[in-house]
Amino acid sequence: MHYRQQHFAVPTNSQIEAAAALLRAGGLVAFPTETVYGLGANACDDKAVARIYAAKGRPVFNPLITHVADSQQAFSYGKYIPDAERLMEAFWPGPLTLILPRRHDAALSLLVSAGLDCIGLRAPAHPVAQALIKACGMPVAAPSANRSGRISPTMAAHVAEELGEADVMILDGGACSVGIESTVLDLSGAQPAILRHGSVTLEMIEKIIGRIGAACDGAIKSPGMLESHYAPETKLRLNALHVEAGELLLGFGRAEHATLNMSESGDLTEAAANLFSMLRALDKMRASRIAVMPVPMEGLGIAINDRLTRAAAPR
Ligand code: TXA
Ligand code: MG
Repeated sequence: MHYRQQHFAVPTNSQIEAAAALLRAGGLVAFPTETVYGLGANACDDKAVARIYAAKGRPVFNPLITHVADSQQAFSYGKYIPDAERLMEAFWPGPLTLILPRRHDAALSLLVSAGLDCIGLRAPAHPVAQALIKACGMPVAAPSANRSGRISPTMAAHVAEELGEADVMILDGGACSVGIESTVLDLSGAQPAILRHGSVTLEMIEKIIGRIGAACDGAIKSPGMLESHYAPETKLRLNALHVEAGELLLGFGRAEHATLNMSESGDLTEAAANLFSMLRALDKMRASRIAVMPVPMEGLGIAINDRLTRAAAPR
């Protein structure tokens, strides 16, 4: 798969080398991926991984995705499963995270899987992420680079806003082309199950490995999928067909009164790329509520609606 970068702010080789050295020394590096920015640490170093949890204010029970260069590196940490290999061939590097049973000899911090006997693995497509992982020579544990419970950052400036106080090097790779987090597919149980919807859709996955049962135990298996998540401070009203007094309108498709529009042409890919940065911008306007127009429940729209529902959940 190929991802179009919207604009470039490409770090130099020496900046990537410096970031890789910082990772090896146990430091934190925020870096762009095609989905959202990640907050990375050496996945083999317990202390470094613990720094991620501290910087995010994240509950320790929430496991982290380990970012790798390729399938070979992935299978040195996760058990080999033929379906996993097929999916890696089809979608890696790219926005698909696979949960595999953790190998007993996996030389990874136990903290990355937060006590579970499975491990989340992903090879990101963004050239800066790939260069960083290769230069580092280590797997990179990285959640989204926001404070826990807040909107994922899709630009380097968002990361600075979120983690301003923390001791982090930020690599700027421009705006993320996909804009919502990777699809999380659990292959560690009896049945494959989607734990988080993303731009690799159920239909795309079923084309490669056949039908997946409807069963989705996401709430238990993926503790990061808490109801209230991706939360702006301003309240949200979903499926809004008109604007009420005091509201801002986040549009989709033709919308005369939209304060911001995820995609005037009704394009779901464009809408996904704009979703988090527009929620963030509207949140800053401090209105009493953000009304969001309906987004169709098909393809990428399923992932967009999932994030919107969580952002609107009571907290
Ligand atoms: O697109 C993405 O996936 C971004 C970029 C940086 O790669 N990362 C990201 O990470 O969104 P995070 O930590 O914000 O979300 C990872 C999700 C969480 O819901 C977590 O609970 C789940 O994946 N997860 C990770 N490892 C898991 C495991 N071993 N078992 C079950 N769920 C896991
Ligand atoms: Mg996150």
